[in-house]
Amino acid sequence: MSSTKIRLGILGGGKKSLIGVLHRIAAAMFDQYQIIGGIFNHNWEDSIDSANKIGLPKDRIYTDLETFIQEELKLPTSERIEAVSILTPNFLHYPMAKKLLENGFHIICEKPLTTTYQEAQELYRLSQEKKTVFAVTYTYTGYPMIRQMREMIKEGVLGNIQKVDAQYYQGWINPIIHNTEMRKSTWRLDPEKSGVSCCIGDIGTHAFDIIEYVSGVKIQSILADLNHVYDDNTMDVDGTVLLRCSDNVKGIICASQIATGEENSIEVKIYGDKAGLKWEQENPNYLYLMEEGKPLQVLKPGHSYNSDLSLEGTKLPPGHPEGIFDAMGNIYKGVSKAIRNESYRSGEFPTIIDGVRGMSFIEKAMKSHKNGNVWVAIDEKYTV
Ligand SMILES: NC(=O)c1ccc[n+]([C@@H]2O[C@H](COP(=O)([O-])OP(=O)(O)OC[C@H]3O[C@@H](n4cnc5c(N)ncnc54)[C@H](O)[C@@H]3O)[C@@H](O)[C@H]2O)c1
Repeated sequence: MSSTKIRLGILGGGKKSLIGVLHRIAAAMFDQYQIIGGIFNHNWEDSIDSANKIGLPKDRIYTDLETFIQEELKLPTSERIEAVSILTPNFLHYPMAKKLLENGFHIICEKPLTTTYQEAQELYRLSQEKKTVFAVTYTYTGYPMIRQMREMIKEGVLGNIQKVDAQYYQGWINPIIHNTEMRKSTWRLDPEKSGVSCCIGDIGTHAFDIIEYVSGVKIQSILADLNHVYDDNTMDVDGTVLLRCSDNVKGIICASQIATGEENSIEVKIYGDKAGLKWEQENPNYLYLMEEGKPLQVLKPGHSYNSDLSLEGTKLPPGHPEGIFDAMGNIYKGVSKAIRNESYRSGEFPTIIDGVRGMSFIEKAMKSHKNGNVWVAIDEKYTV
């Protein structure tokens, strides 16, 4: 009997990659996917080596994407790879996603969606035409307490929102930015591979997405002040972005890769006229509810007081910490429902619209900074 799992292909994410293991474990987590093949590395030998390491036969490890598509299309639909995860450096997302979309594959793509806003819009147009599922892995939206934050805000627990604030601080680029040789060999600092931005594109875009995901407000215009540290470095490694949002809400995004000593400190804080909610990724199982004149409340996953969306993303009873792998697993679970045409809740996985809005944010942040830190509007064409 053939497997009923979704047949998954993977591009990138091979040995030495950062994100590959997260996707492989996430895909396995709810028993919905089976990894069939793909191209794990740029180099063929490395790709075969990666396949060996995860115990995958070599017959569906391809040399290039054209061969991948040609060979898969020769197979009966019951055997063919159905969905493909794109986990390569940014500049390959667009050409890979475009070819896959044109040939009817579902796509799970890493962020940022593309290297330009124009490419992102083209992928959106194609995905609408092809009616395939297209997810963009803003991983943090998969955390149970982030989902809980979204649902509590939707229910009105905070009252009218009056301030949104997200920080994403890392320190990893600090030793690299001060070393001319290392600076040249890091793809995230190469505009050909990374796109127009480093810090805002890599992590500022997570902050943008998480604010919109939890608060429901739409960021409408932004003013960015970026830091490149060296005059000969074309890529931002730090930035502060002021936000004007729907419903007259104002806010701020602070993103940095030179926040020395910081690891992966993404935090989101939403304040209403009744209460505030605060979440920190490095302690993801705590959601802080702050109310005027009352003691601080700490909400945790798995309890019956959580929303259905949050509980959907919790596998174990309270007190069993779940983390980043589980967050990505929850996103893969949501995508599997969409691929199978099953019903799912809004917020179960980030879609191409989130990816397109993210690209608008990145491009507009660069424009704002270059034009002397001026206000620039985010394109409102793409909203759910
Ligand atoms: N969602 C998140 O929180 C998150 C976190 C980290 C990275 N990312 C994103 O994931 C993507 C990859 O980042 P990374 O840090 O894993 O990069 P990486 O440099 O660590 O790994 C990239 C992988 O892609 C492979 N590759 C390169 N060219 C290829 C090609 N032509 N065909 C097939 N494979 C190829 C490399 O061999 C390597 O295995 C980026 O878009 C990044 O923004 C997202």
